[in-house]
Amino acid sequence: MTRPETSGDPVAVVSGGSRGLGRLAVERLLGEGWRVAAFSRSANAFVQDTLAGHPDRFWWQPVDLADHDRTRAFAAAAAERFGRIDLLLNNAGLLGRPELLLTTAVSRTEELIAANLTGPIILTQACAKVMARRKSGTILNVSSVNAVRGYRGAAVYAAAKAGLDGFSRSLARELGPLGIRVNSIVPGFFESDMTTDVTEESRERIRRRTPLGRLADLAEIADAISFLASPRSSFITGQTLIVDGGITC
Ligand SMILES: NC(=O)c1ccc[n+]([C@@H]2O[C@H](COP(=O)([O-])OP(=O)(O)OC[C@H]3O[C@@H](n4cnc5c(N)ncnc54)[C@H](OP(=O)(O)O)[C@@H]3O)[C@@H](O)[C@H]2O)c1
Repeated sequence: MTRPETSGDPVAVVSGGSRGLGRLAVERLLGEGWRVAAFSRSANAFVQDTLAGHPDRFWWQPVDLADHDRTRAFAAAAAERFGRIDLLLNNAGLLGRPELLLTTAVSRTEELIAANLTGPIILTQACAKVMARRKSGTILNVSSVNAVRGYRGAAVYAAAKAGLDGFSRSLARELGPLGIRVNSIVPGFFESDMTTDVTEESRERIRRRTPLGRLADLAEIADAISFLASPRSSFITGQTLIVDGGITC
């Protein structure tokens, strides 16, 4: 990812930086000279190895996005530790098994909304306050094709992700005058822990419905993130970039 044109090493906050897309984003950012503050609910070998390999440039804490106080405290501590926040990648998300709304428990609904919408909003508010001090920053919200098209068994997740897209647009209007860009990225299906339960039959159906005839490579989603996080997209804000091989077109 291209570094922003500011003095000193830029700082990225990455939610869900332990696995899948978040992990790849952390690897790329560190490789390109960023300092990274990341969190997830639990650590894994990647987190431990990265902490050991980059003790001054990588910081990780156990945080559940459903815990608003801890989420706010994480952002404040990241800013305190590194002195600034240039990029927020709102990547963490929760999908779970397909579940029809008629049988979805209220607690499950609240869990999905907390992880996919309320939590990212709280984190954004905390990071945007830090960005506003320097009148510069980029916020990137990771949405989903579920926000754009209907999928049976994913109504609450879809509602949360569509909410995130609407949040991005309105926030872009509020934060633009402060030099902060806000965009949403909408990935198509890619292989990760989130999608291990998806059957081969479903994968084949997705391939069939995708004009490019295949699933996304994780790196292709990360490339779009790189673009929207970099000065190459400096006049783009309030937009939703769909990276799905055409399945929603
Ligand atoms: N995979 C796909 O096909 C696909 C398609 C469209 C959009 N997306 C979106 O892309 C993003 C990344 O997905 P992925 O497939 O890379 O997911 P993943 O492999 O399941 O990783 C999710 C990451 O988020 C963390 N996380 C989950 N819930 C959290 C919570 N409540 N608080 C803090 N951290 C939490 C996880 O760590 P812990 O479990 O330890 O907390 C993990 O680091 C998500 O927003 C997802 O909705 C994925």
